[in-house]
Amino acid sequence: MSDSQNNLSSPFSVEWTHQLLNTDSAFGANDALAQVCSPLYPVKLLPIIDDGVIEHHPSLAETIQQWGMTASVNCCPPVIIKGGEQSKNNFACVEQILEAIHNDHLCRKSVVLAIGGGAALDVIGFAASIAHRGIPLIRIPTTTLSACDSGLGVKNGINYFGKKNFLGVFDPPYAVINDYSFLTTLNDRHWISGMSEAVKVALIKDDSLFDTIESNAETLVNRNMDVAKSIIMRSADLHLHHITEAGDPFEKNESRPLDFGHWSAHKLEPLTEFTLTHGEAVSIGLALDVTISKRLGFLDEHTHRRILSLLHSLNLPTTHEALLNPELIGGLEEFREHIGGKLTLLMLEGIGKPIEIHELDSETVRQAIDELM
Ligand SMILES: NC(=O)c1ccc[n+]([C@@H]2O[C@H](COP(=O)([O-])OP(=O)(O)OC[C@H]3O[C@@H](n4cnc5c(N)ncnc54)[C@H](O)[C@@H]3O)[C@@H](O)[C@H]2O)c1
Ligand SMILES: [Zn+2]
Repeated sequence: MSDSQNNLSSPFSVEWTHQLLNTDSAFGANDALAQVCSPLYPVKLLPIIDDGVIEHHPSLAETIQQWGMTASVNCCPPVIIKGGEQSKNNFACVEQILEAIHNDHLCRKSVVLAIGGGAALDVIGFAASIAHRGIPLIRIPTTTLSACDSGLGVKNGINYFGKKNFLGVFDPPYAVINDYSFLTTLNDRHWISGMSEAVKVALIKDDSLFDTIESNAETLVNRNMDVAKSIIMRSADLHLHHITEAGDPFEKNESRPLDFGHWSAHKLEPLTEFTLTHGEAVSIGLALDVTISKRLGFLDEHTHRRILSLLHSLNLPTTHEALLNPELIGGLEEFREHIGGKLTLLMLEGIGKPIEIHELDSETVRQAIDELM
């Protein structure tokens, strides 16, 4: 028998439906959670909640337990974890969640219910995906950033070696429920900083979303919920469809369009010891990459000015002294290394018109930073 006859190869694929439900009351009248849980009955559910959410919704744990009784769900006592980026900077939260999964005897037919901001969702998703090689996860994002972007993501993980998301897995959630009532208790800083991801996805995919954000900037800053909802829903929809339809949900290719502006953002976060929020770092990263796009001759002056002025009207930052840190440029290689293969970055030729580049010299970056500063 020849070697080739000994070799086996058999392609397979796994079908998955990425589901997002929008509600103002996940545990109330329209019962979005019971709806997504119903195909899983009888189910044991372990709620894990960001402490920043609990601080502003102190009766949430009790509400969930009562909901569990009416919905006939075997609901374990909710576990509260530390929220915010610090929860991603070591193993403490991962261990706390794994311990609860172990003590409550969850199995692969149970559900981990993650309620919190993007950082908490990343940690909870990571712990759920490594326990028993994967326990189904339902996410309820509670920040503008997680509702319009990260909650829909298929990535889970924590920071390590001072690098963002160095440890992690691709594992899609069983379902995502955007409950807009949580957004009312965000402070102004977190309310607006998450909107930078909506601006990002508008810049690379949807000029009409950009127009909508631009014409409603002031109302958005003033926290008009109807306006915010429609922008978040459109952004979430664009993120979801990119994941399901662009043909590369697990980022096997070298291009990572949803990370436009992120090569510097991911470096700025540790360089500022996480005093910048992810959303603020993304805003600065967008400002830098549109300035580089202009300097490389892709983007005209007028569009460049229009984009920076939208970020300013949203009270989002476009500069930071950490841009002058010589280590910033290392973010390019870290970005390439994280995804592998050859460096692939998006630049802009116009709003909604991205173009890929594979080289970026440090002098062009330095000049763009000088211009921004
Ligand atoms: N997995 C992905 O695909 C993906 C995509 C984008 C961003 N991210 C990650 O998301 C993180 C940023 O998420 P974020 O912007 O939501 O910030 P965050 O999770 O750090 O939350 C910000 C703060 O708000 C608090 N909070 C959460 N919900 C609240 C509420 N309803 N009311 C009051 N306070 C509340 C939190 O406790 C925290 O202190 C970063 O770590 C980023 O890397 C992940
Ligand atoms: Zn991001």
